[in-house]
This record gives sequence, structure tokens and C-alpha cells, in this order.
Amino acid sequence: YITSITAAQRLDSRGNPTVQVTLTTDKGTFRGLVPSGASTGIHEALELRDTESAAYGGKGVQQAVLSVKSTIAPALIAKRFSVETQQKEIDAFLCELDGTKGKKRLGANAILGVSMACARAGAAAAGIPLYEFLRQEAGAPKAPYVLPVPFFNVLNGGVHSGNTMAFQEIMLAPVGATSMAEAIQMGAETYQHLKKVITKKFGASATSIGDEGGFAPPISQPHEALDLLVEAVAAAGYTGRIKFAMDPASSEFFHDGIYDLGIKDKVSPKLTPPELSDLYRELIAKYPIVLLEDPFAEDDWETWSKFMAKGREVDDGVERMPEIVGDDLTVTNVERVREAKEKEACNGLLLKINQIGTITEAIAAANLAFSYGWGVFVSHRSGETTDDFIADLTVGLRTGHLKTGAPARGERVVKYNRLMDIEDEIRASGEEMKFAGKEFRTTHGKMA
Ligand code: PGA
Ligand code: ZN
Repeated sequence: YITSITAAQRLDSRGNPTVQVTLTTDKGTFRGLVPSGASTGIHEALELRDTESAAYGGKGVQQAVLSVKSTIAPALIAKRFSVETQQKEIDAFLCELDGTKGKKRLGANAILGVSMACARAGAAAAGIPLYEFLRQEAGAPKAPYVLPVPFFNVLNGGVHSGNTMAFQEIMLAPVGATSMAEAIQMGAETYQHLKKVITKKFGASATSIGDEGGFAPPISQPHEALDLLVEAVAAAGYTGRIKFAMDPASSEFFHDGIYDLGIKDKVSPKLTPPELSDLYRELIAKYPIVLLEDPFAEDDWETWSKFMAKGREVDDGVERMPEIVGDDLTVTNVERVREAKEKEACNGLLLKINQIGTITEAIAAANLAFSYGWGVFVSHRSGETTDDFIADLTVGLRTGHLKTGAPARGERVVKYNRLMDIEDEIRASGEEMKFAGKEFRTTHGKMA
């Protein structure tokens, strides 16, 4: 049983306040630290901030802290739930206590911190690792455990950096690795080569990094970014074994039916939805892109569906078409996921726990996506903390891939280090284990 729950305002990786929950049971003290996005989707659950206050420029989270201390703590403790067996009941109770659709009363940031801390307490009560606790919660098969391909966001644009690139994230995916440790080595070595390539082209001052640890050189066009990756991967000796991925985060540059790639440099073209679709098709034909996230805006359903339909037509269902992942489109919310399936808008789900606010609801969104045969791509936020919860979540749910930034900056690296710890732990335990590799989209079913 839970004996105490408290919360405090702490900082995230951008220096903005976030919620830290501390929960105590007879097994010890357990924490949850909540992340925060910058290119936040309008359909996400509410992140409660003290907008009326001058403190931290209106970004304080004292109201959310108060939600935990004065509303959630007394109510949840009184229920005497078992953290070991009742995560679902706990999360349902938290939703009920809030009583609104988007967690607008207590704040998704307050609720998520409690939900995370409960899961950690539950794992400790059961005497099992967090990834195994989450696997059981999800009802995922055990053998083999699946270690994910880490997608490293090594070039930052959009609202995550001060350069002029409209596209937010350009990622390296070491799908040719055979283990977590090798994948991380491949990503980290290529990252260092990328730094050299950028220094040579733009000078050392161009190697400053963005919010997710990727470089932010003075480039604007996606092909310039992808060319830098081609060169870095070749220099590292991984051509063919490292593929690419992109998250343009296009909701950020969509206005009045037009995708404005000049949102930051004021000169790049304004594209209609068909023109942007053609640009993606060109890039997919030219570069080894295996995943494309939020290619279109969160409510531009029609363009998503058309792009998917055309992809199927051209490729007849074979390899060429990258995984098309919904982020702002689907917001880890089963209702939006269902709508995306009805409209055949995408075939992958980005899973961000703070978009929805409880672990149980995030797992439900993942399982629904799996039931459609989609991929599930676990994700950090651009404003992160040193909490490594999503590393365990990815292994527990067998999602086969995750993105948690560049192999740099403590709040990113802590997740990658935890994944290597998990790999070592499973190996030492003698349990069956596989690295997802090229099968990162389908690990949940086929690898069993
Ligand atoms: P965010 O960006 O955390 O700033 O929303 C991540 C993403 O768009 O995937
Ligand atoms: Zn995204």
C-alpha cells in the first residue's frame, strides 16, 4: 500500500519547471519526473502551468504540485490500492478524480508523475524489474525480450534549435546492429563523425547543439541535412547498416492549408499539401529513410490518407514505403488512434506518456496500434528529465524502436545507458532476448 505521496517543482532540461512526484510504500521511495514538449499537439492532455503567475515566466507548475499534494495524495492513499496488482485501477481512479476529458482539472503532468511512481512501486512490490512489470501490465509475450533500435536525433531544427531548418528532427537508425550496445556504439561514433563533417563545412561554431542533443548547423533544406548524414555514416564506416528517419513536426509550419518551409529563414518555399507530399517521395527515393513522423499537420487528415494510399499503390506493400508515424495526429490517445485507422492515415504510433497522462492509457494506445499491425515508436519529449522510465517501457511493450535524442546530454543519455543496463541484466539472467534490428516495426508479433 501507498503510505505517502508528495510532489515538488523541479527543473527540466530546458530549465523550465516540471513536476516531481515522490511516493512511499513499505518497499521504499519511488519517483516520477514528468517531461514536457515544445512542438506540443493541440489534442494532447493538458500540461497544467501557472500562466497567471510571473514566476518562471508563467511556466511554474505549483498548481500541478498542489493537485498531487492536496487532491490526489489523500484520495489515493485512502483507497488502499495494491500497487503490485492494481495499476489499472489506480490509473482509472486518477482519471475519475480529474473528471475531465483532457485532464484539465488536476493536470496531466500531476497525474502522470503519480502513475509513473506507482508503476515503480508496483515493480518493487513484485520484486521484478520495471520493464517486466510493464510487460505484464501490457500482456505482452515474454520470450524473447526485445531490445529496441535507438533512433538518434542528431540534427535539430524546428522549434528545437536556433538554426533555420523547418524540419524538426533528422535521425540515425542503426538497424544493422545486432545488440543494444552495438547500436549505441554505431550511433555515438557516427555522431562524432557528424561533428567533424559540420566543423569542416561550417566551422567549429556550428557544432552547438539543440534541445535534443543534435547539432544545429546553419542549413535550411532537408536534403542538406540528409547529405550531412550520408557523409557522416560513410566516414564512420556504417553505410547500409544505419538508416535515416525524419520528424518534420509539420503542425508547427502549417497555416491556412499551406506548409511554410520558410517559417524560420523566410525564403524557403511555401508548399501545398501535394507539393510537400512530392518532396517526401523524392527524399524517400533518394535516401534510406525508414520512418517518417508527422509528415502532415495534426488535423490535415486528407493529406495523410492520400499519402498512405499512394505509398501502397507504388510499393504494393513492400519495404520501400517508410513507417508513417502519427505523433500530433494521434497523441497517444485511443480515440485518435482509432480515427487514424479508420482513415488509413498512418501505420505507426508515436508513444509519449505525457500526451495522455497515465501508464495504463499509454499501454492501451500501444496495444490498439499493435492490433492494427502498426509499429509503435516510444518517445521522449524535447523538455526531458533524468528519469529513465521510457527505457523500461520500450522493452516491456516490445515496441522494437524508440527515440530519445542524440547520444549526448545527460537527460538523453540516461535512457540509452538504462537500455544497455537492461540488455546486460537480461543476458545475465539467462532469459531469451533479441535485438529488434531490421524488424523494428513488427517485433511485437512476429518475433515471438
Ligand atoms: P516535442 O517534440 O517533445 O517538443 O513535442 C518531439 C516530437 O515532436 O516528436
Ligand atoms: Zn513528433
